[in-house]
Amino acid sequence: MHEEIIQTKYVVCTYDELDCETQALIDEAKRMTQNSYSPYSHFAVGAALRMIDGEIFSGSNQENAAYPSGLCAERTTVFYASAKRPNTPMVAIALATFAQGEFLDESAAPCAACRQVLLEYEHKFNQPIKVILYGKKHTYIFESVASLVPFSFTEDDLK
Ligand code: THU
Repeated sequence: MHEEIIQTKYVVCTYDELDCETQALIDEAKRMTQNSYSPYSHFAVGAALRMIDGEIFSGSNQENAAYPSGLCAERTTVFYASAKRPNTPMVAIALATFAQGEFLDESAAPCAACRQVLLEYEHKFNQPIKVILYGKKHTYIFESVASLVPFSFTEDDLK
């Protein structure tokens, strides 16, 4: 018997330290928080997704009086992108969260269901999707969705 340790590498930085392309993706995610429909949680999440050819799709969380019928910003965005461009790999997703009148110092990380959905597209195209979590104080960057989902379940498990 022995123990094993899983490590996750990520970058911690500030918005100012990022390249223009990443800043632009974050700007779009921040802008999309304004389109959030979140009358129940008042927790506005914006997402911006860059495709491999540079096209950007963006979205926000959409809530519902029947709470579980709502959808997170990440899934709203990637499902739309995949519906429009089913054969185009995704390369990066930026997230920003606006609550109680300001952007959070550190953005919320994708929920487990969103990680699973993002992982599907990462596997489909065998292309890592960078996850960029914008915060006023700190921005976190993960090189892939897989790095956020150890011991994941994918189509390989169905074979
Ligand atoms: N939410 C997202 O849109 N993305 C996340 O990663 C976490 C949670 C939304 C769902 C719900 O509308 C609100 O935030 C509060 O949970």
